Amino acid sequence: MAKRIKIIGTGSYLPEKILTNFDLEKMVETSDQWITERTGIKERRIADDNTAVSDLMTEAAKNAIEMANIPVEKIDGILVATVTPDMMFPSTACIIQNNLGIKQGFAFDLSAGCSGFLYALEVAHNFIASGKYKNLLVIGGETLSKITNWSDRNTCVLFGDGAGAAIVTESNDDSGLLSSVIGAKGEYGDLLYQPAGGSRMPASKETVEKNLHTIFMNGREVFNHAVRTMVSAANEALETAGVEGSDISIFIPHQANVRIMQSTAKRLHIPIEKVFINIDKYANTSAGTLPIALDQAVRNGKIKKGDLILFDVFGAGLTWGAAVMRW
Ligand SMILES: CC(C)(COP(=O)(O)OP(=O)(O)OC[C@H]1O[C@@H](n2cnc3c(N)ncnc32)[C@H](O)[C@@H]1OP(=O)(O)O)[C@@H](O)C(=O)NCCC(=O)NCCS
Repeated sequence: MAKRIKIIGTGSYLPEKILTNFDLEKMVETSDQWITERTGIKERRIADDNTAVSDLMTEAAKNAIEMANIPVEKIDGILVATVTPDMMFPSTACIIQNNLGIKQGFAFDLSAGCSGFLYALEVAHNFIASGKYKNLLVIGGETLSKITNWSDRNTCVLFGDGAGAAIVTESNDDSGLLSSVIGAKGEYGDLLYQPAGGSRMPASKETVEKNLHTIFMNGREVFNHAVRTMVSAANEALETAGVEGSDISIFIPHQANVRIMQSTAKRLHIPIEKVFINIDKYANTSAGTLPIALDQAVRNGKIKKGDLILFDVFGAGLTWGAAVMRW
């Protein structure tokens, strides 16, 4: 890699309202036992009616900026990864730029499902490596509760709301991103999607009545692809970085299902104690899971200077990504 990047500040923000599995038992034909055993999820956070994803992201960004101790005047651009933007346009990144009082630089969103944060990190890496930009604000997060069909037990138990952010800058020491790989398999797009609301199927009375503005998923197929793809992505990132699974200090996988995380870790020969898991508390927050987990691990002292971190994601698209970073 040309110039290396590193993260100098992290932040996250989760809405206060908690929806437990027991609450869901009253809404659909499910049980705490089924959800816990099949997914590892116990509860999730839900944004209230007046809260949009930019509100969660703005708070996460403020926390990252505070940790990085950087004036907002020095932020050269904002990259937002989400599939639940405030609206189709302007971008959520532009809304956040205004919320933060940032007057300079670019701002745009990218859509890569649950892989969004690593996609955005890879873009930030190449922007900074070009020498044109120095400090970038990278944010991932969702308000998936707003596109969840709360009468579909196959999906509604899996998702939650939350956002995480990072300040990314050029690294002048041996810390930072050692490798980063991203990819997509567009032929599997129909395994996980939101049918209506775009130009293929604009909003109409019918699309609303048929709940087509919500998440549709073939869970079993997605599960099968997830483990295989996450293992190969992680192996590629490890190899590019020149390290082994056993060298990793902490493994931060996408929080989609604890069984996916366990199977992936096992195949990568990473002991389960090294896997960062918070899905029990927040469920799958899509592009939010990685930056939220990273922020919590940093603030709880689970990541120390010099530690090797392996990130691994998988999501709608289908998309995938993995990265190795020395803290
Ligand atoms: C969705 C998922 C948890 C289902 O778990 P599973 O072990 O594969 O379960 P199956 O799909 O085989 O379904 C088993 C049964 O449980 C039922 N079921 C599904 N959701 C249920 C729920 N919330 N409560 C109770 N039963 C449920 C199914 O209807 C099915 O019943 P049937 O056998 O009578 O048809 C799992 O497939 C998964 O996590 N997939 C990946 C999803 C994901 O990560 N998506 C985001 C990617 S970024």
